[in-house]
Amino acid sequence: MTFDRSIKIAPSILSADFANFGAECRAIEDQGADWVHVDVMDGHFVPNLTFGPAMCKAIRPHVRTVMDVHLMIAPVDPYIEAFAEAGANIITAHLEAGPHIHRTLQAIRATGKKAGLALNPGTGIEAVAHLLDMIDLVCVMTVNPGFGGQKYIDLSPKIRALRAMIGDRPIHIEIDGGVTVDTAPRVARAGADVLVAGSAVFKGGSVATPEIYGRNIRAIRMAAEAETGGRLA
Ligand code: DX5
Ligand code: ZN
Repeated sequence: MTFDRSIKIAPSILSADFANFGAECRAIEDQGADWVHVDVMDGHFVPNLTFGPAMCKAIRPHVRTVMDVHLMIAPVDPYIEAFAEAGANIITAHLEAGPHIHRTLQAIRATGKKAGLALNPGTGIEAVAHLLDMIDLVCVMTVNPGFGGQKYIDLSPKIRALRAMIGDRPIHIEIDGGVTVDTAPRVARAGADVLVAGSAVFKGGSVATPEIYGRNIRAIRMAAEAETGGRLA
């Protein structure tokens, strides 16, 4: 994985057909997805249950790009090794998931994977300053995690402050929740480079009509790039 700040669209397979994950991953990648975002939920840290490392391992052969695994689970540490072995490229843990985020990030890096730090909407960015050397990505949640299809919470000032704090460091800013053609320009303008989108990518399409995924992905990308004027944020 090489680092750059170009706009990357990461469809969340939380909005895919759960009976068809392999084909769904191939379809979104064929249609221009840059990363595949996998939302892991435990029914404890967030009020919903999705899937675990076995599912990630099963879809790995169908993912050619980057498997971006977002862990909404607590505790996190006992499962890091399993998600690394399942083939995740990026493993993201929540700051709010436990008292020892520093240890968690160390454990992720120790597996050789990229380490992501996720922040709930109500969490400030202060702690990020102490973790800059340990992270490859900050995931700014713009919904309260747990479900797809929720309304975007505008956190542009938070994203801008984070962008300033990161400076030239090779750390991605990922926005997760409520990203659509309408909200993508705002997050791109504020300095994000990875846009997770679940419902806005999968809406109206299916593996039988993958061109609709392509249309949705291109529309979000164009809306975001129009803001950055093709420049890298
Ligand atoms: C929310 C998840 C998101 C979500 C995004 O808990 O982390 O990745 O699936 O879905 P949309 O784009 O529909 O808000
Ligand atoms: Zn997510």
